[in-house]
Amino acid sequence: MNSVEKEQLEYIEKCRTLIGEWSKEKERSITYCVVTFGCQMNARDSEKLKGILEETGCVSASEDEADILLYNTCTVRDNADRKVYGRLGTLKEVKKQRPDMVIGVCGCMTQETVAAEKVKKTCPHVDIIFGTHNVYTLAQLLYRHLSEKTRTVDIWEEAKDVAEHLPVRRKYPFKSGVNISYGCNNFCTYCIVPYVRGRERSRLASDILEEVSRLSKEGVSEIMLLGQNVNSYGHDLKEEDRMTFAALLKAVADTEGIRRVRFMTSHPKDLSDELIDTIASHPKICNHVHLPLQSGSSRLLKDMNRRYDKEHYLELVRKLREKIPDVAITTDIIVGYPGETDEDNEETLDVIRRAEFDNAFTFQYSKRTGTPAASRPDQIPQEVVTRRFNKVLALVQEMSRKRAMLLEGKTLPVLVEDVNEREEGLVTGRLENNMSVHFKGDASLIGKYVDVVLTECKGFYYIGEIKNV
Ligand code: 5AD
Ligand code: SF4
Repeated sequence: MNSVEKEQLEYIEKCRTLIGEWSKEKERSITYCVVTFGCQMNARDSEKLKGILEETGCVSASEDEADILLYNTCTVRDNADRKVYGRLGTLKEVKKQRPDMVIGVCGCMTQETVAAEKVKKTCPHVDIIFGTHNVYTLAQLLYRHLSEKTRTVDIWEEAKDVAEHLPVRRKYPFKSGVNISYGCNNFCTYCIVPYVRGRERSRLASDILEEVSRLSKEGVSEIMLLGQNVNSYGHDLKEEDRMTFAALLKAVADTEGIRRVRFMTSHPKDLSDELIDTIASHPKICNHVHLPLQSGSSRLLKDMNRRYDKEHYLELVRKLREKIPDVAITTDIIVGYPGETDEDNEETLDVIRRAEFDNAFTFQYSKRTGTPAASRPDQIPQEVVTRRFNKVLALVQEMSRKRAMLLEGKTLPVLVEDVNEREEGLVTGRLENNMSVHFKGDASLIGKYVDVVLTECKGFYYIGEIKNV
């Protein structure tokens, strides 16, 4: 444990005293809720925020009830920002009724100066504001706010120390994300991530493997390795510490007790043959690659600073499918990037047809202040974006349905995650390719691997039956 971690543990203890007093006064437990927007990285950060809050003595509650309410925000597209402002707007009245509640906003949105200023100015009812680099200082910030009763704002320009040994509250006891690197060096012209998450910083392989071992001992059997660009893992480490992502992946999969390893996100420019061979040869590494395409037009890819072209992407898909026959390939696609023509859109449709994605997240281009693409004069009118977007979406759905149908009737292992929220008597689990399966079962199956016959494909998920043994 380093000195930063020790200091934070002291703040957790100090908060514990204050929360204890608050609880006595209220004659009930003090509650918290962390609301997460955005990607897997944010989800993992939220588990850290929750871990700290639990350790101070707070108990989890719904968003409507919580005494301490934290929004861990995303700013990758403007609809994510809008959702947060919407919720904060509603909270103005709530806080009038319950003046002692604590509202905090953190994450990618508040890491941006403009947004942070806006929250400060327009949301006087927000008590704590912090960014992406000091998530682990939550107890310190909460202590300052509770003891001084003042608004606490602390946003760091860049990442400083690492604190990886603080409490974490995992959503699932049997699976966990593990950060392998933070930040991004790629500066795709549309993307705000490098500005709010900072430069790429890889964690030491020894620390990652130690965390995986610890998780495995705690009962975790599925690991998701997380980084904005996992394929460039280690490039920033000292030579003696350097390890390729493929080697790291293999080492994680070889850890005792680990049954499945996933990873996210791969950048096509850095996806190596070594990695493809590693996935192909290691049964515990899930046959699923999320490989964001963004656009099928080589001209736009160049403009986006993606550093690969249409042919290279299709070649990667060919290799993946050749070497890993049952691989699931998923992707991200942006429609309406500045300067996009109907021909560019046709190129994207062409790649979707040829790659036959198992799933694709399609996004309408969203202008992010401060990124090079935002100041381009040739922004695409909304009606054109909508027309092209609908075409892309329809084709993506057609392709993923076609791919999903291929598994109908097969028997495959499923990791059971939850009881089904909508239908009693059903549980929900995931296949190796990350698709969901619903089938008859009860809570005793959660966290277990069972063989399931995929009786019916519903497009994005399956209905199944446990195979009788
Ligand atoms: N507009 C639309 N989509 C974006 N993404 C990133 N930035 C933007 C933007 N400005 C998408 C990319 C990325 C995913 C996480 O979000 O497709 O892969
Ligand atoms: Fe954004 Fe590009 Fe980095 Fe992905 S690789 S986070 S799209 S800048």
